[in-house]
Order: sequence, then C-alpha cells, then structure tokens
Amino acid sequence: MKILSIETSADETAVSIIEADGDFPNATYTLLGNSLRSQIEMHREYGGIFPSMAKREHAKALTPLLKLALEESGLLTKGENKMTPEMTAKLESLLEREPELFDTLANFLRTHDKPEVDRIAVTSGPGLEPALWVGVNFAKALALAWNLQVIPVNHMEGHVLASIFDADRDNQLSDLQFPAIALLISGGHTELIKMEAWAKYEKIGSTRDDAVGEAFDKVARLLGMPYPGGPEIGKAANEARKKKLPEYHPLPKPMLNSGDLDFSFSGLKTAVRYAVADKKLSEEEKQAVSRDFEDSVTEVLIKKAEKAIEQTGAKTLIVGGGVSASGHLRQSFNSHFLNYDANLAVYFPMPGLSTDNSIMIALAGHAKMAASLSPEGALNSIRADGNKKLA
Ligand code: KG4
Ligand code: ZN
Repeated sequence: MKILSIETSADETAVSIIEADGDFPNATYTLLGNSLRSQIEMHREYGGIFPSMAKREHAKALTPLLKLALEESGLLTKGENKMTPEMTAKLESLLEREPELFDTLANFLRTHDKPEVDRIAVTSGPGLEPALWVGVNFAKALALAWNLQVIPVNHMEGHVLASIFDADRDNQLSDLQFPAIALLISGGHTELIKMEAWAKYEKIGSTRDDAVGEAFDKVARLLGMPYPGGPEIGKAANEARKKKLPEYHPLPKPMLNSGDLDFSFSGLKTAVRYAVADKKLSEEEKQAVSRDFEDSVTEVLIKKAEKAIEQTGAKTLIVGGGVSASGHLRQSFNSHFLNYDANLAVYFPMPGLSTDNSIMIALAGHAKMAASLSPEGALNSIRADGNKKLA
C-alpha cells in the first residue's frame, strides 16, 4: 500500500510517499519520495512563526513538493487529463481561500495522470489552524480528483512513531514493550503520554505554560540568537561545556519536585531574562547561559520522565518532537536511563525525524488505518483542529 502524506501544521511544508509492506505495526516501510520545504528563514525576522505567512507559504509550496515527491518515487507520469466542469468547480470551492493553490493544483492535475497511490494521510491537528487547513484542503482536493480516501492524523502520534521508526535499521517500527511512556517535546507541546498498547494514548502530564521548544526559542531571542533557538542554544551550550565555562547565573529547575508529572518553563525563561537584563553579554557569557539553561531543562525532563516510568512501570521510553534533536539531551537521557535500568528501552528519532516531517504522518496514517478507531468518514467531516488531542 502506498501512502501519500502531507504535513503543514507549523513552518515546514512536507509531502512524502511511503510504501507500507505488511500490516501495522509489523510493516516494512520504504520511503519512495520525500520533499520538505522549511519556512524557517522567512519567519526568522519575526523570532517565531508568523501564522498568515505560514499559511501562504504552505499554499505556494504544496503543488511543487507533491510533484517532487512523485517524481522521486517514479510515480509521476505526464498526461492530458481534462477536468470536468463539476470537478473544477468542486476543487475551486474547496480551495477558495487559496486561489494560487487551486491554480497550481488544477494545472498539475490536467497535465499529469493519477499516480499509483492508495491513501492520503494528512495532519489535521494539533498545530496552527490556518496552516493545517491548507494541508487538509489540499488532501481533500487530491482525494476528490483521484477518488482516494483521506486519513486525518494527529501530528503528535506522528512524533511518537517517528521516534521508533528504523531504530534497529530495518525500516520497521521497533517492537515496543508496553506500557511505554512518550515524552513529546516540541515548539508547541510538552507532554508525557502513557501508551498501554499501540494507538492507546493517555496524557499523564503536560506543561502549564510554555512548551520546551518555545522556551528554547525565547531564551535564544533574549541572547540575540536567531529562530529557531533550539539548535543555536545547543551549539553555544556545547562550546561552554568544551571550555568548562563557570556557571553564569543559577537558574531554577522548575517543577522538579512538584510531585506530579506537569512542567512549567515560563519561570525559567523569566529567570534568564532577569539574569541577562541590561547587560551586554560576551560570547562566552552567552555560551554559559545557554549551557545553564539547557542543563536545567534536561534535568527537569529526565526527572519527570523517570517519575512517569516509576508510576506506570513502563518498559519503554520514547522521546520525540523537535527538541529531541538535541544531542546533549539524547546523551543525557541515554546515560541516565542506562544507569537507572539497563532493561529500559530508550528511543530517540533518527536524524531528520525529530523536527516536523511528513514521513511520520505516513506512519501515523498507517497506524490509524489499522486501529480503525475512527472509520474513514466522508471528506466533509474531516476538519483541521488546532487543539486536536492525542489522549
Ligand atoms: O516538532 P517541531 O519541529 O515543531 C512543532 O511541532 O512544534 O519542534 C520545533 C521546536 C522548536 O522550538 C526548536 O527550537 C526545537 O524544536 N528544536 C530544538 C532543537 N532542534 C529543534 N530544541 C533543542 N535542541 C535542538 N537541537
Ligand atoms: Zn512537531
């Protein structure tokens, strides 16, 4: 089965085609085509995602990315295909808010044959709702034109599956031991999820204010570093470790001993703000602050994950979302949990799958088809939901 997947929940537009050979969760996945366009450069001057620009850029990028992904898959064939006036009118009304997307897509559909794909998976939430709608409507338009079904998927389930994909280098999902804990840390979310079985999610902790990635981005901004802040802070922090720079200022480890599984990062960000206020920091001082901040965050995340494991008797820890790209975080988790319990399986995404992508959306689409928790419904019942819940 070939799954065409689409991701537009934040500032990456991505389209991929994945072949799933076998049934979830034992399938072997072959990546046939993958195209991704990041809008990071464009949002940089705003220090974060600028929603109306994100939406516009998704609309611009989707048809070219679809074409690239199909081409890479060897599934792109040119052909003259007349669209009936009824079909043209349907697509035009579906994409009425994205006239440019309608034009490029209609042109594409008229000049190319229906590719050999079986399903379309699209992120329907959570994320920036206007951005999500662009992807959802694009998926619906393709589904209408090619008579295919759309599987709406949860972006966070995508992050979970991305972390366990190909960990054993066999193009499969890892054979999970349940219960498992997923620590999802991204620009918009910080959550602890308990998984009793495949596709059974229960939220057991979350942030009360800022998400971890958001805190990285805000602290980077305070230090005059560009968006997104995570990789910048990470690089600077590593310099500080290499040079063994002294602590710049003691920072709090928020909620470390709160007794529950919740997080709070806005106080930590504020503590950094006070520590650097009205000062002209040297490069080394910025590196030290970055390290102090990254260390605080890492300690809190480890402690909470450990607590979640204790409370649930979890045999597996899955760390996913953009912040899981941090090399320091990965090393710290691996060494801590190896000491804690050498039998605990700890998963981080392979390179490129921490931050947003559409490969994870194809995986989540495949999972959802298997779970048939929500039977694939009529196209008009599929909606973008910025606050879509995993559990
Ligand atoms: O999952 P993601 O790509 O998008 C959302 O769904 O939000 O996560 C983006 C977040 C940003 O806040 C970014 O600063 C953070 O992930 N991030 C990192 C690193 N790479 C990206 N944070 C820490 N260290 C990194 N290496
Ligand atoms: Zn994400």
